[in-house]
Order: sequence, then C-alpha cells, then structure tokens
Amino acid sequence: MRIGILTGGGDCPGLNAVIRAVAKSLMRQCQAEVIGIHDGFAGLMASTPRSHPLDWEQVSGILMRGGTILGTSNRANPLGNSAHLAQSLHNARQLGLDALVVIGGDGTMEIAHGLAEHGVPVVGVPKTIDNDIVGCERSFGFDTAVATVTDALERIQTTGQSHGRVMVVETMGRYAGWIALEAGLAGAADVILLPEIDYNVDLVAQLCRERETHQRFTVICVGEGAKPQGGQMTVERRIEGSPDPIRLGGVAHVLAAELQARVQSEVRATVLGHVQRGGSPTPFDRVLATQFGNQAAQLVMAGQFNRMVTLHQGQMASIPLRDVAHQHRNVPLDHPLLQAARQIGVCLGDAA
Ligand code: F6P
Repeated sequence: MRIGILTGGGDCPGLNAVIRAVAKSLMRQCQAEVIGIHDGFAGLMASTPRSHPLDWEQVSGILMRGGTILGTSNRANPLGNSAHLAQSLHNARQLGLDALVVIGGDGTMEIAHGLAEHGVPVVGVPKTIDNDIVGCERSFGFDTAVATVTDALERIQTTGQSHGRVMVVETMGRYAGWIALEAGLAGAADVILLPEIDYNVDLVAQLCRERETHQRFTVICVGEGAKPQGGQMTVERRIEGSPDPIRLGGVAHVLAAELQARVQSEVRATVLGHVQRGGSPTPFDRVLATQFGNQAAQLVMAGQFNRMVTLHQGQMASIPLRDVAHQHRNVPLDHPLLQAARQIGVCLGDAA
C-alpha cells in the first residue's frame, strides 16, 4: 500500500503527533509506504507534486514538536477551478496513492470531501485550536491553546492588579467561543465574551466600575468573533483564495475604546494571536492526536474512505466527511460551562 499524508489549513500543536501515529501504524501493521505531501494541497496541486517518502526515522522524535514537518497552506484549494482539480487527481494517480490521509479543519475537510467525490480514497483527521468541527467533541490543539491563553490571563491579571486597570485579552476561535470560554474559566476572567452571546457594552462597563471600588482591576477574556449587541464582528483582513477568506481580529481594541469612555481606570487590550497555535502540544493533545492518527490508519486498512475520524462520547469513531463540510460547531447556549460561569458570577456580557 502507498498512502499519502498532508496537513492543510492553519497549523496547530499536535499535527506532528498525528503524522507520526498514522505513519508508524501503517508501517508496522501493513508495511505501507507513506508519502508526505508538502504544504497541504499546494503540494498535491503543483505541476509536479511536491512530496517525499517518510521513513520510520523521519517520523520518530516528532511527537512533542509544534507545527508540521510537512508544511501547510491556508490558500491552496484543488476544487478552486477545474484545472487545479484535474492536476490534483492526476498527481494522486501519478504518486500511486491507494489512499490519502488529510489532516485539517473544516475548510480542509470540505476539500477532502470534494476529492473523495472525485474518486480519491480519503480519510480525514480533524485539527483546530478552535474546537469547532462538527461531530467531534474535542479536536487536538485546543487543549494546548487553552493552556496558553490561561497562562496569559494569569500574567495579565497580576499586572492589571498592580495598576488597577481593565485588561481586555482577545483569543482566537473564529466563530466559536470554546477557547475564550474554557480559558476564561481556567484563567479566572471576570468577564467572558463569546461570539455566541452578543455583549452589551454598558453592562460590561457597569461591572468594571463596580470592581473599581473593590478589587480595582477587571480581566475580560473576549473571543475574536464576539460582537456588541446590534453590531458586527471585527474583521482584520481577507485572505483571497482561502476556503474562508475572512480573518477576524481586533475586537479587544474596539471593546477597550468603548469601555474607556465609560470607566475611570485605564483600559488596555492584548491580542494573543498566533502564540495560541505554536509550541509543543500538551500531554492531552499528544494522546488525542496519537489516537486520531492510529484510528485514521485503521480506517485506511479497513478500506473505509470518505470519512473523518472523531471523538464521540470519549471513544474513537468516524463519521462521513459530508456531515462535516460547510459547518462549524458553536457553544450551545445551554452548555453547562455557561451556566457554571453565570452561577459563580462571571459576566457573559448579557443581562441573563
Ligand atoms: O482556525 C484556526 C485559527 O487560528 C483561528 O482561530 C483564527 O481565526 C485563524 O485560524 C487565523 O488564521 P491565519 O493563521 O490564516 O491568520
């Protein structure tokens, strides 16, 4: 068997752990040849495919390494036009691939599904720090991002406390608030603002003013997709050619300016950005990524294609790629963590 493997879309901690597990599992169990494709779909679409065979040594010692040894691309889309599609299908045949393992987020899974519909035997592995892939309880990379944001919130709290400031910390997460919610709780934020709950800036300001007289400081953890009631999300830039061209970012600055007009204390904003995607995966993410990689290898060996591996009720499982494409998973408004946050007095930006 000859199996291709690529990482698509934005990177996240744990990609190398998946590559290692897919390759080792296939090499050990069916003596497969594993071909690493470079820079996501860009390597598959190129006029000459960019790839190299992976051996046991190359996938050893990478479990804890951040990033991806294969490189990735957030723009390349074989479904973008018929020439790109034809080239990708031709390259998959030319490489002699019996299957292709695609590690990526919802955009990448959409492309994987499209390729599968054109006859490429594909298995998907969900990755994203955003934890927003439909049908998957936990994606690897998320736990690491939450740990990074939690650490940042702790540091922000001590300096905010010293100066008696309102500190606004912006997390990634796109249209879902999972990172802001879990890290906000773990990092003891006083206010947590999510894309799922539009915030009332007057209510947030009122809480900051109340705290000015007692605790002196306030820490606000805001997901990049959060928006004020009646307002819009803050778009930082557009990346043309990307499956989702919109890049969010900057809501912390917008909110800080709105709050500054309403409170006595100084208000400061910190946008954490790509620090949340870098570095070594946590032990949880290493284990999850290893399980996902091994599960993907099992699907390949069983000939179960056009599916994505997933975590369902704590167990490894798989679902059809078509169930994942064109969707993302938000924080449900009745999620127990939202309830717990409210019950311990965390402000979620609304009057509830
Ligand atoms: O989907 C992962 C993610 O890090 C989002 O949280 C963020 O909005 C986006 O990717 C940033 O993408 P880029 O690296 O292209 O700026």
